[in-house]
Amino acid sequence: MVPIILVVDDEKDIPDLISIQFYKEIEAGIFKFLFASHGAEALELLKKTHIDMVITDIIMPNIDGLKLLERISDLYPKVKTVVVSAYGDIKNIRVAMNCGAFDFLVKPLQMSDLFITINKTLAAIQKEKEIEAQLLQSAKLASLGELATSVAHELNQPLGVISLNTEITAEEVDNGNYGNVPETLAMTVKQVKKAISIINHLRNFGRKTSRGEYKKTTLNQVIADTLLLFERQFKLDNVEVIQKLSMDLPEVFCHPIQLEQVFTNLLNNAKDALKESTEKKIYIRTFQQDSTNIVELEDTGAGIPQKYLNSIFTPFFTTKDMGNGTGLGLSISYAIIQEHKGQISVQSKVGDGTLFRIELPIATEP
Ligand SMILES: Nc1ncnc2c1ncn2[C@@H]1O[C@H](COP(=O)(O)OP(=O)(O)OP(=O)(O)O)[C@@H](O)[C@H]1O
Ligand SMILES: [Mg+2]
Repeated sequence: MVPIILVVDDEKDIPDLISIQFYKEIEAGIFKFLFASHGAEALELLKKTHIDMVITDIIMPNIDGLKLLERISDLYPKVKTVVVSAYGDIKNIRVAMNCGAFDFLVKPLQMSDLFITINKTLAAIQKEKEIEAQLLQSAKLASLGELATSVAHELNQPLGVISLNTEITAEEVDNGNYGNVPETLAMTVKQVKKAISIINHLRNFGRKTSRGEYKKTTLNQVIADTLLLFERQFKLDNVEVIQKLSMDLPEVFCHPIQLEQVFTNLLNNAKDALKESTEKKIYIRTFQQDSTNIVELEDTGAGIPQKYLNSIFTPFFTTKDMGNGTGLGLSISYAIIQEHKGQISVQSKVGDGTLFRIELPIATEP
């Protein structure tokens, strides 16, 4: 599919200028352009068409480039955005980069710069698509190696912002201009925290997997051990846990610490989803079906919108604010269940709640 680039600019001659400049690439099907003259029109197009990349001016009537950028990161997190701003408008560029812009260009727009930036951005999109395709196809959705690749990718964004902010600060200090320094440093710290939280997630995983061994145990035991850690928190949050555990569940051959991590992730997600619910319940059921042990963990929380259901196991997919979620919980859980030769699936309805179902083979030594 030919990548589609949406250019948002209120200057009337931009569509012609770009179409003429890039007619060869357009004809060769390397990429194609759509144009919008303001943010609202851009959002309409994003809703209707699959768009890969957005290049947006910052200063525009009604929805400006920064607001557009925010909406795009919320609604279309996979779309990469490049902001265009007047030379020297470092403040807006900085805000844009902190809001998740992939890159920036300065005005007056140099077509050679634009070409390089388009190629760089499309290459990054292509790389992400490849990673995602690999993740989805190879049944081991998020083996550690693949997770590492996407972690490296994901760390690039905060590191890029940190590097840009540091350069700006050095320049400002050099010029004796300290006014923006506290704000820049605060933004830098935020990005450092983001990087740390990504790393911590993986470190915990690594540590927990290297300790302990596979052994025979019942899922009821693993669930009981996990729940001990949540007792206090659930009491504070008024969350009621209702357990319907089969008492004659056969043992599974598993890595209990890893499975605890899976249940911890699922319970944390349920806890978050229940925050705004009036009925705060989590049902945990275990039972046997043929040669499989089943665990169902169901909450009466907010539910998952249909459009996200295919993405929730993808590394770094999160709907939570920065600092509250890295989007690694379910991808790690998926990897663990895969390693146990099991399956994890989800059913959810917005407003009703969410049900995660884990199937694990009953104990046979590998
Ligand atoms: N029980 C649930 N109810 C509603 N939404 C859920 C539930 N579990 C997962 N989700 C959705 O799936 C997304 C991905 O979940 P995942 O556990 O992978 O990451 P996270 O919770 O956002 O961050 P992390 O687990 O890394 O702290 C969540 O951001 C949320 O939107
Ligand atoms: Mg989570």
